[in-house]
Amino acid sequence: MRWQSLILSIWPAFAAIVAAEDGSEGWLRYASVPCNAHCRQNLPSRIITLNATDSSPIETAGKELQDGLQSIFGKNVSIVQSGCHDSSSIVITTVYDYRRLCNSTDEIPELEEDGFWLSAQGDTVHILGQNSRGALYGAFEYLSMLAQGNFSDVAYPSNPHAQIRWVNQWDNMDGSIERGYAGPSIFFADGKIVDDLSRAKQYARMLSSVRINAIIVNNVNANATLLSTANMDGLRRIADVMRPYGVQVGISLNFASPIDFGGLDTYDPLDESVVSWWQDITDQLYDRVPDLAGYLVKASSEGQPGPDTYNRTLAEGANLFARTLQPYGGVLMFRAFVYDHHISEDNWRNDRANAAVEFFKPLDAKFEDNVVIQIKYGPIDFQVREPPSPLFANLRKTNVAIELQVTQEYLGQQCHLVYLPPLWKSITDFDLRIDNATSPVRDVVSGQHFKRPLGGWAAVVNVGTNTTWLGSHLSMSNLYAYGRMAWDPTADSVQILQDWTRLTFSQDRAVLDTITGMSMASWPAYENYSGNLGIQTLTDILYTHYGPNPASQDGNGWGQWTRADGKYIGMDRTLWNGTGFSSQYPAEVAARFENIETTPDNLLLWFHHVPYTQRLRSGKTVIQHFYDAHYTGAETAHGFVSQWETLRGRIDRRRYNETRFRLVYQAGHAIVWRDAINMFYYNLSGIPDEAGRVGHHPWRIEAEDMTLDGYVPYAVSPFETASGATAIVTESNSTAGTAETTLGFSAGVYDLVVNYYDQYGGKSHWTVYINDRVIGWWEGDNEDSLGYSPSIYLDGHSATRITFPRVRIRRGDRLRIVGRPDGVEPAPVDYVALLPAGLVD
Ligand code: GCU
Repeated sequence: MRWQSLILSIWPAFAAIVAAEDGSEGWLRYASVPCNAHCRQNLPSRIITLNATDSSPIETAGKELQDGLQSIFGKNVSIVQSGCHDSSSIVITTVYDYRRLCNSTDEIPELEEDGFWLSAQGDTVHILGQNSRGALYGAFEYLSMLAQGNFSDVAYPSNPHAQIRWVNQWDNMDGSIERGYAGPSIFFADGKIVDDLSRAKQYARMLSSVRINAIIVNNVNANATLLSTANMDGLRRIADVMRPYGVQVGISLNFASPIDFGGLDTYDPLDESVVSWWQDITDQLYDRVPDLAGYLVKASSEGQPGPDTYNRTLAEGANLFARTLQPYGGVLMFRAFVYDHHISEDNWRNDRANAAVEFFKPLDAKFEDNVVIQIKYGPIDFQVREPPSPLFANLRKTNVAIELQVTQEYLGQQCHLVYLPPLWKSITDFDLRIDNATSPVRDVVSGQHFKRPLGGWAAVVNVGTNTTWLGSHLSMSNLYAYGRMAWDPTADSVQILQDWTRLTFSQDRAVLDTITGMSMASWPAYENYSGNLGIQTLTDILYTHYGPNPASQDGNGWGQWTRADGKYIGMDRTLWNGTGFSSQYPAEVAARFENIETTPDNLLLWFHHVPYTQRLRSGKTVIQHFYDAHYTGAETAHGFVSQWETLRGRIDRRRYNETRFRLVYQAGHAIVWRDAINMFYYNLSGIPDEAGRVGHHPWRIEAEDMTLDGYVPYAVSPFETASGATAIVTESNSTAGTAETTLGFSAGVYDLVVNYYDQYGGKSHWTVYINDRVIGWWEGDNEDSLGYSPSIYLDGHSATRITFPRVRIRRGDRLRIVGRPDGVEPAPVDYVALLPAGLVD
């Protein structure tokens, strides 16, 4: 929101030491690092790119090293193409070429595909890749060390845990991005591939620096027009800009393309004409993009066409594409996200979570060897907490990959800070106890556990044209960490975060500690205020998946049910009395989840249907835990603002301000979440909060209780997203309204808070007065400042707050809000709060 308060901020004078930055370089800024005589001595003065062909990753690595050394140390380093044992040089090539061209017998451990050997001994550096891509990864590793001020001598190999380390973009041909929160596509506009692919090139650079080796560029809900000749030519251009970074391109396909686009009268995967149509498409694509990574297919899912139309199995559907790719070595990623979204909640045993195993387990061993089943981390849909998908344990003869989301669809959409690796690790470190033996998910997805030829990781990222890539500077830690974890899932979340922080912001200890503290507290906080004990993210699943709306989970066919009523809550997924989901896990894990005593509290409501009065291990009841957790979570989010503010002057002004804006927003929205969820369950269960907080807000003044002129009360839906279920809106869309009240609080200094709604479709203007003194004004333009549009209604998505700190009032003062509507936004106000120092409500 654009706003003005009479309390103006003064930027410390020492801020001038840091330059303005826009986030576009991500963690590849190569900020200057102090270099003493010892460091200077250890800097190589030549880069030898042995046997680098034009546009190869080794040539890219040479340039990257040259730019990096220039930018970090101001050192000019030349690039040459020959030489082997020169000191003061970086030799970068493949192990094969190094041995061949340098007659080297150096002991270099056997490397896996894409792996590298990095040896830095003073100013003599060897970066040797298993392939040219590996060499580029090694160059990024070396630069990352230097950029973090690490000049140690090192010699080690680095190998990927899994071969598949892909990202998915859900970009549509018209340039919009499904579940994207950072502006339109960097690849598509108006049905075509954009002319200017410079951002795509920068994206490839960033992906490559964290060892991502392929990208699916279009939405899984795919549009067949991507297969037009012009668009295939466009894909060639995308692949050409990404190839020098070792990032291969792939595409999502629409199963019905033979009819929708090809003019055939069937898309039956066993029909000869369909098979040859797809082969022809594949041939045309490989003609243009000889290293196409492959395809991603979402079939028979959420209304997407698939083989079931012709009574063919999912394996028959997947194999159709896989076979067309085989001559080229391409991979077919086939999504396991197949379920019936019209199931009835009336049947106690129905469960969407069961679907993947039910569909795919019988097909194990029926897939071609270049098929990889891409499985979302949990059995539902990217929720704040889920157990791992049991499908990981059920496909012994089929390749699998785990699907994560960097884009925070159910996790605050980049408007809330949520550092995701701890969540991801709760899945990838989970020991499935397959055959009663150690079997962490990470080893299943890599292919190691079942000795599969392929396997790995995919993440939905959804960067856009916003200079920050994801819409928020801090969210970029998730993209960075995703790459690091896909390479080495045992890497430590804090260490990854701190590398990212040093590279992105600063080596300053205070910056490091603060961002670490906030980030590591962020997922637990979000879980606390959005949906705890395994109940899922209690967001509006029927609309934007953003703000609170617990009622939307139930009573529809989507199967994200909570089965909450006046007395009980949670899904009974036991075998003995419920949906039987727990029995899809290997015996030891199944037994743990089957039994309420051994189910961890954080998944209690995922597996069990219990009374609100059920005691947790902490001794609290479920309902009291809900209340407390929501208060704790919101308080933690509130604390992020002051923690961030300690970094003022230690981070460049632009990124400091942009981040602060989001954290302030989050703190307010966390309170919206807290109150909505607490009110909803208080209303449903009738059980009061032992601490007396829920529904009692002594510092609030409800807008509907004020004297209104030009404003009228408005019953908000869902009710719990307005304090007292009611807000006020202007009577007409063109005339201002006034809400006024006399303050009964004792004289003092208070934070003046206004909770209001910022819908898209208008930019209302509000002014707050105490008597005739303007305290401040603001505009409802979150659609610009947050970079996307959560809602057109008054609801839990648009509900937000603004705070005017330290306002002096006296008893009997008149508080007045004047709201000027704009477009469809009727200057809505929910409540005003006057909070004594230190109180958050
Ligand atoms: C979620 C998401 C959809 C997406 C789907 C998928 O349901 O909300 O936008 O299409 O997942 O993963 O296919």
